[in-house]
Amino acid sequence: MNIASLLLNNPFILAPLAGYTDLSFRLLCREMGADLTVSEMISCHGLVYGQEKTLIMLKTVPEERPWAIQLFGNEPELMGQAAALVSKKPVDLIDINMGCPVRKVIKKGSGAA
Ligand SMILES: Cc1cc2nc3c(=O)[nH]c(=O)nc-3n(C[C@H](O)[C@H](O)[C@H](O)COP(=O)(O)O)c2cc1C
Repeated sequence: MNIASLLLNNPFILAPLAGYTDLSFRLLCREMGADLTVSEMISCHGLVYGQEKTLIMLKTVPEERPWAIQLFGNEPELMGQAAALVSKKPVDLIDINMGCPVRKVIKKGSGAA
């Protein structure tokens, strides 16, 4: 399976799950056959302003390739800055969360909003 130039060996992709898909969980899923893993959704605001809890979510290891980072936010300028920041990391794909229906996310204009 291909996603642009990214070639996956199998079609099993670990969906992004806020509160679950940390590095340990992602590595377990990779052991179980996932060929692409995705971070928890990561706040663009937290990334750009260097919030410690957010930066921890970028943690990965070389065995975890290919992997994707999912961003969420509500300000195009910050989204762009965050994407530029993460593109300097060892990451294969940047995904934008445009579907999260959770109240605290949509009330700030992010996710599904
Ligand atoms: C606890 C939980 C957290 C989730 N977090 C995210 C998230 O951060 N980003 C996202 O795009 N989807 C998130 N989702 C949606 C899942 O990635 C997935 O699309 C959804 O559960 C449907 O998957 P299914 O079709 O395999 O049932 C979350 C779902 C659950 C249950």
